[in-house]
Amino acid sequence: MRDSRATGPCRQRSACYRDDVPGLVVSSAALPIDIRPLLGPGVTLRIPPRGSMARDAVLAELGQADALISLLDLTVDDELLAAGPRLRVVANVAVGYDNVDVAAATRRGIMVTNTPGVLTDATADLTFALLLAAARRLVEADAFVHRGDWRGFSFDLLLGADVAGRTLGVVGLGRIGQAVARRARGFDMKILYAGPRPSPAAAALEARHVPMPELLAASDFVTVHVPLSPATRHIIDAAALAAMKPTAILINTSRGPCVDEAALAAAIGRGAIAGAALDVFEAEPVVHPDLLASPAVLVAPHIGSATHATRGRMAEMSARAAAAVLAGQRPEHIVNPQVLERRDDLA
Ligand code: DGY
Repeated sequence: MRDSRATGPCRQRSACYRDDVPGLVVSSAALPIDIRPLLGPGVTLRIPPRGSMARDAVLAELGQADALISLLDLTVDDELLAAGPRLRVVANVAVGYDNVDVAAATRRGIMVTNTPGVLTDATADLTFALLLAAARRLVEADAFVHRGDWRGFSFDLLLGADVAGRTLGVVGLGRIGQAVARRARGFDMKILYAGPRPSPAAAALEARHVPMPELLAASDFVTVHVPLSPATRHIIDAAALAAMKPTAILINTSRGPCVDEAALAAAIGRGAIAGAALDVFEAEPVVHPDLLASPAVLVAPHIGSATHATRGRMAEMSARAAAAVLAGQRPEHIVNPQVLERRDDLA
């Protein structure tokens, strides 16, 4: 039943079915661990030695592939899926999967998996690092000393904002939002959160569910932890920024398009909020020029989950998902489980 859902160029079973190898896995980018031992005996892996494959190279490799391990810099759209008539799984090496057209994959009977959980702490750590660094102007301070501008102790040098005891507004109290709130409790912060419904995790965090306008108006720090969807695109827009305190700082480690960058740059420019710390951007790796030019904006290159151990665990989880599907087993963390209802080749 290996090509029971074959469509397009692979309608002819004989044209696609390969008896020579038990499976072909294509990874669109180099990974921090050797995943070959995880894939199972005889499985072939195509993976670049470093960096990411160009899209054309991925398209060419997919002709015979059973599984694709994709990174966020690859847009897995219908065109790409169509190039893989044998594809059974797209294992995305990230918790977010907005780079994958899940509806198209589902239509084609292809499972999509992600890597939740293993990157929660690393991302929450970076969020808190950004919050503290922005509040205490750490990047400016570092550059100041490195430039040789420091002339001695000065009482009003690089004054920043207090963190302890202040109010943190968490937009989206999912796994990562909760982990950020746990860290904030260590700083005696008051925690507000907004989301479609109250979270069962909130009581233990002493976090209060409030409407978004109340969160924006009351928070000293607003941190965004929602997946990107049509409902969350520009969830922080000009109106949201106008509702924030002029002393507030915005932190975003979720997805760039959750924040309207032009509106953010304008808000910071006119002093409507104090600053921002951003790890993600609307059109990565491009950053809005006014954000880049502002000393009130701290920027990082999408490194929320970038620790050696975390990236290793993400790669391992994705490899195990691909291996499970190749072995006819149900993978962990399927984003589109409805595909399983239409498949008869998985245990
Ligand atoms: C994710 O997992 O979605 C991060 O953005 C990348 O690690």
